[in-house]
Amino acid sequence: MLSGLFLAGCGSGTPEGSGQKVNQAPAGVTETSGSDESEKTPAVIKPVSSANDKSPAGGSAEGDDAAEKTPRSVVDFPMPDLTLLSDAAFQRNAKMGRLVAKRRCILCHKIEGRGAILQPPLVQVSMRRLKRMLDYDEYLEELQGSDPDRFTAGQKTFDAIRQEQDVLKSMRLWLKGYLKQPTFDNSQAKMPLQVLIPAEIEQLACYVIQLAVEGYQKGETPLED
Ligand code: HEC
Repeated sequence: MLSGLFLAGCGSGTPEGSGQKVNQAPAGVTETSGSDESEKTPAVIKPVSSANDKSPAGGSAEGDDAAEKTPRSVVDFPMPDLTLLSDAAFQRNAKMGRLVAKRRCILCHKIEGRGAILQPPLVQVSMRRLKRMLDYDEYLEELQGSDPDRFTAGQKTFDAIRQEQDVLKSMRLWLKGYLKQPTFDNSQAKMPLQVLIPAEIEQLACYVIQLAVEGYQKGETPLED
């Protein structure tokens, strides 16, 4: 049951739109200046296990229960507003997205421990993407200078992402752009174009967001930048 995991983060009842984007504050720093609501500070999701300061032996032969090992220690990550996760339509989409992913994405990314190891597991790329959304405005500024044609071509999407105050919703917009065309904001993107219909894109976007949050809540390690 995935949804149960999110209750902890969804219980504050923070109204949508009142949460400021977390990218104003560097990770781990609690930025409260100008705050007029006590609920504004993003919850810091800590790894579920407390016994995770010992790293699994790197490079050891693949144990059959490697997935059971305690995750490597994870830096606390300031979770954005998680309200979106409790939305019924979002949950339905994420559920469908999981099924699509297990048919399609598993060709390259491991999902729930199954699938190819050509690429990093889906949970890890998803976690890294959530983290990257916090600095996305800066990324776009760079892109505008370094690849102005790409910036102009994607400007509508980029503006929408920038204007979206809810980090998870901005990630959903990003994922829709990416799953439509992986190079939409990066000429170096290595993922080949996936042929997907719009409904599948919406479903996968929700699933990837859910995976990312769940990964942080479980204390898994995101892919390094
Ligand atoms: C043919 C192999 C392949 C398939 C199939 C594939 N991917 Fe990927 N994916 C990649 C590669 C390569 C990367 C880049 C990995 C990296 O950045 O280290 C990637 C990266 C990603 C990222 C991270 C992108 C970022 O910049 O944050 C996401 C999210 C992702 N894939 C989602 C999916 C989803 C959802 C599917 C199923 C529809 C899928 N992938 C199917 C190869 C694939």
